[in-house]
Amino acid sequence: MKLRLKSILTACLVLLVSGCTPDPKSGKGFTLPEGDAQRGMETFVALNCNVCHTVEGTSIEPIETEHHKIVKLGGKKGYVVTYGELVTSIINPSHRFAIGYPLDEISKDGESKMRLYNDEMTVSQLADLVTFLEQHYELEVYHPTPYVPYY
Ligand code: HEC
Repeated sequence: MKLRLKSILTACLVLLVSGCTPDPKSGKGFTLPEGDAQRGMETFVALNCNVCHTVEGTSIEPIETEHHKIVKLGGKKGYVVTYGELVTSIINPSHRFAIGYPLDEISKDGESKMRLYNDEMTVSQLADLVTFLEQHYELEVYHPTPYVPYY
């Protein structure tokens, strides 16, 4: 009986430890140096991100071109927009597409229509952009309508 308990406990421990071992490909431990939001806003305009984007809570005007769908950045979201997601969506746009837009308007042949900046953007510019953008996202907590019993 005692032995059985011991083996059950060992099995639980093994499961627990293996569940905690990070995947070597995981982004855990990845952090860019602290950016500067003001410089991030200037970079946003300098790199013409506003050809395709507006940012909630700023007065950045979109550059009007008829060829591009405007994708809004920032604002209230029902889920946390993480730092890692923001970095990824800038340097690897096709990894996951923005939610709330018809796929054919924001992608073509499975690829994001976003321009790739990886060969021209510096790491400092990326850090500044992310610091700027993350300030404009807000978590909207979902408040379900309370159940009112009907008598
Ligand atoms: C030619 C148009 C275009 C340009 C220029 C562009 N983007 Fe995008 N961007 C898109 C499109 C289309 C999407 C939606 C598809 C996707 O998620 O990749 C997107 C998605 C994003 C997202 C994720 C939005 C979400 O809700 O998931 C971020 C963040 C972003 N872009 C930042 C930038 C930044 C920063 C720049 C400038 C360095 C930039 N983009 C330049 C077209 C563009």
